[in-house]
This record gives sequence, structure tokens and C-alpha cells, in this order.
Amino acid sequence: MNALPQNKDMQDKYYIGYYDGERLIAVMDLIMNFPDEKTAFIGFFMTDVSIQNTGIGSGIIEDLCVCLAKIGISKVRLGWVKDNPQAEHFWHKNKFVEVGDFYDTDKYTVIVAQRYL
Ligand SMILES: CC(C)(COP(=O)(O)OP(=O)(O)OC[C@H]1O[C@@H](n2cnc3c(N)ncnc32)[C@H](O)[C@@H]1OP(=O)(O)O)[C@@H](O)C(=O)NCCC(=O)NCCS
Repeated sequence: MNALPQNKDMQDKYYIGYYDGERLIAVMDLIMNFPDEKTAFIGFFMTDVSIQNTGIGSGIIEDLCVCLAKIGISKVRLGWVKDNPQAEHFWHKNKFVEVGDFYDTDKYTVIVAQRYL
């Protein structure tokens, strides 16, 4: 919850909970103006298993993109774990496209993608 890229501080970070009434149904980690001033970076996004595959995740991402565009952000960037078909399908469906870049961690490879707003 406190993870930050280099050269960013907590002022740039939003750790957002989405609620249906009192029930937490989704969580997002969002870093503003990273890696550049016009880009927002989604570090993490997950919906509760009870509401997955109902379109709520896509609705949240669409709303976020509309709001970010209104405040002058021109693209959203993120990464997904290679060979995770659920994540790949979800982000493609939400208009994210691979930038051709990837990086390796100890356990998996992360595919970098972005969406122009
Ligand atoms: C990925 C995730 C955020 C999507 O949220 P959601 O609320 O389920 O999203 P939606 O209902 O809008 O869309 C889900 C899509 O994934 C598809 N999907 C679900 N499981 C899948 C699988 N194993 N393989 C391929 N596609 C899959 C659904 O069919 C749906 O696509 P469709 O509308 O074209 O049929 C959510 O499922 C999640 O939190 N998963 C676990 C964590 C995770 O993998 N996070 C990766 C984000 S980096």
C-alpha cells in the first residue's frame, strides 16, 4: 500500500477502495504523473471475486479514464503478468495496447501496456 516508484512521493499516490454500500468490491493503486507529467500509472487493480466478470471492472476503468482525460492526462500506463489470460483479455478489452516493452522480476515477466485518452 505504500509502494512508490523512484522519485515519486505519497502526494502522487492514490490507493483507492471502491464500495458497494459498505462492501469493498475493488481496489486500485494509482500513481499520478508517472513516468511523465501527462501519464497516470495503474500499479494494481483487483475486483472482488464475487463481482468479477460482471462488467464492473471495465466500468471503473472507463470512468477513471474519462476523469483523467478531463484533468489533462493523455495516457494511462500499466503492466500485467505475462501469460495471465484474464489480465491480458481484460486490459485489451479496455483499450490498453502493449508498448513492446517488458521487464523481468524474480518470479515473472511483466508486459507494459498503455491507453491513449
Ligand atoms: C482482471 C479483473 C480486474 C477484471 O475485473 P472484472 O470486474 O472481472 O472485469 P469485467 O467483468 O469488466 O471483464 C472481465 C473480462 O475478463 C474475461 N475473463 C475472465 N476470466 C478469464 C480468463 N481466465 N481468461 C480470459 N478471459 C477471462 C471475462 O470474460 C471478461 O471479458 P468479456 O466481457 O469479453 O467476456 C478481475 O477479474 C481481477 O481482479 N482478477 C484477479 C486479479 C488480476 O488478475 N488482476 C490483474 C490486473 S493487473
